[in-house]
Amino acid sequence: MDTLEALFSLRGHRALVTGASSGLGVECAHALALAGADLALIARREDRVKNLASELEKKYRVRAVGIGADVARDADIESAFSQASRELAGEIDILVNNAGVSPTGRAENFKRDQWDNALAVNLTAPMILSQHVARALIAAKKPGRIINMTSIYGTVASSVYRLSAYSATKAGLANLTRQLAVEWAPYGILVNAIAPGWIPTEATEGGIAKPGNKERMEQFTPLGRLGAPEEIRGAVVFLASAASSYVTGAVLAIDGGYTAW
Ligand SMILES: NC(=O)c1ccc[n+]([C@@H]2O[C@H](COP(=O)([O-])OP(=O)(O)OC[C@H]3O[C@@H](n4cnc5c(N)ncnc54)[C@H](OP(=O)(O)O)[C@@H]3O)[C@@H](O)[C@H]2O)c1
Repeated sequence: MDTLEALFSLRGHRALVTGASSGLGVECAHALALAGADLALIARREDRVKNLASELEKKYRVRAVGIGADVARDADIESAFSQASRELAGEIDILVNNAGVSPTGRAENFKRDQWDNALAVNLTAPMILSQHVARALIAAKKPGRIINMTSIYGTVASSVYRLSAYSATKAGLANLTRQLAVEWAPYGILVNAIAPGWIPTEATEGGIAKPGNKERMEQFTPLGRLGAPEEIRGAVVFLASAASSYVTGAVLAIDGGYTAW
């Protein structure tokens, strides 16, 4: 392993990224395509993932497909996974479970339907998709990578927002990451998580804009600023590539040091 290419190249790999219609999912897709992976991009806003797929094909000379699917529905997951495997002509060996929702509300009045949807999108969907990917890889006797997008709020509670469903599901996803890492290590399927801090995206822009919030987040972040969406890219390539061949069950904080103290 004596070239950067050998350490980080994803040529010949097939990646599936959920929530690739905006924010960090778009960044994950760029990072994986930059490293040479072929891609299936999933979100409900089909036009967006199809447009991104065309852009990535031209920019990075990879194969990319955009697939409209609601990951809260098992049937959508199953058909999107089948379509992705078929159109990319082989087993998906990199899965990025990035789609997520972050409903807010006082814990004592938190709406049941919002709780259920957060559970479905943030925790159940990553499990179901991971099962599809792992079953196919195990049957084909091939190794793979699963990367789950958790959050600093899978480790600590939020003092800025009332995020009971979010915090609970992200903490669940962090420990699901460890459990799957242990169970699938014998098959060479490495399972890790990325836990971002505050990064401006569609999900967070409104909250960041509220008076005092940005300053408060910056104050508790050792690096003294919010993250930029593209700062997620390095971690995704690392966890998908040979560079992390002895890393499994880890939760990698990309948070400017927010959870370090
Ligand atoms: N930004 C941050 O500060 C931050 C910090 C920590 C963790 N995260 C995590 O990073 C991930 C991406 O968040 P983001 O900040 O990039 O937010 P975002 O821009 O709102 O992106 C969320 C993505 O999830 C997709 N999604 C939501 N519900 C879905 C469903 N039912 N089926 C399919 N796709 C669905 C959305 O696509 P459609 O609406 O098109 O379906 C969208 O692509 C999330 O898991 C989030 O919790 C973000």
